Amino acid sequence: MNRLLGGCTLLAGLACAVGEGATPHRAAPPQSGSAAFGIGRTATAEEIAAWDIDIMPDGTGLPPGSGSVARGMALYAAQCASCHGPTGVEGPYNVLVGRVPGDAFPFGNDPSVRSTIGNYWPYATTLYDYINRTMPFEARGNLQPDEIYSFVAALLHMNGIIGEDEVMNAETLPEVRMPARDRFVRDDRTGGAEIR
Ligand code: HEC
Repeated sequence: MNRLLGGCTLLAGLACAVGEGATPHRAAPPQSGSAAFGIGRTATAEEIAAWDIDIMPDGTGLPPGSGSVARGMALYAAQCASCHGPTGVEGPYNVLVGRVPGDAFPFGNDPSVRSTIGNYWPYATTLYDYINRTMPFEARGNLQPDEIYSFVAALLHMNGIIGEDEVMNAETLPEVRMPARDRFVRDDRTGGAEIR
């Protein structure tokens, strides 16, 4: 008899350890942090909603509001050009503007080609999501929906994707078809047995 395993044989020891043998105090998973540690509380629906900000390709999650190319161009010059360049190509940080001739997609063959919104991004709605979360880099999370729609409109126009009179909102933005849209395989996995 193996005393350490409380009467279990060595071979059966592992099964025993998670049963009644070596770890007799193992409890069921806690329902909330406070039950286990005496701290924290269950998040409210409002608190979860404040973090639930992702925007889907079909526009799900886009808030009310709208923005024009003209307003976006003015805001871009003031808040974005210092890092992305006056026309979105000069840097010093990420190049935001540029198309590849024929809207080709040479990234697998030619790593020197810089990916941009115009030549790489498959969905226009991602622009809203990304800018909302992350920009301007040093003051992220402070933009209002009308401003974000304006930045999105300006960047789509600078990439030659929408005209200068177009207005972006929750209805028009998901309708914008990006040049690289069909360069990606849609991930239609549902989290079932097909996930390996
Ligand atoms: C202080 C510098 C700075 C400012 C100002 C700034 N950005 Fe950026 N931006 C960055 C950096 C750095 C990245 C790359 C971040 C990364 O890859 O993690 C980036 C990335 C981006 C991207 C993604 C580019 C890509 O293809 O990966 C977009 C879109 C963008 N910025 C838009 C904006 C807009 C719109 C503004 C103005 C509201 C703005 N940025 C202001 C520094 C800045």
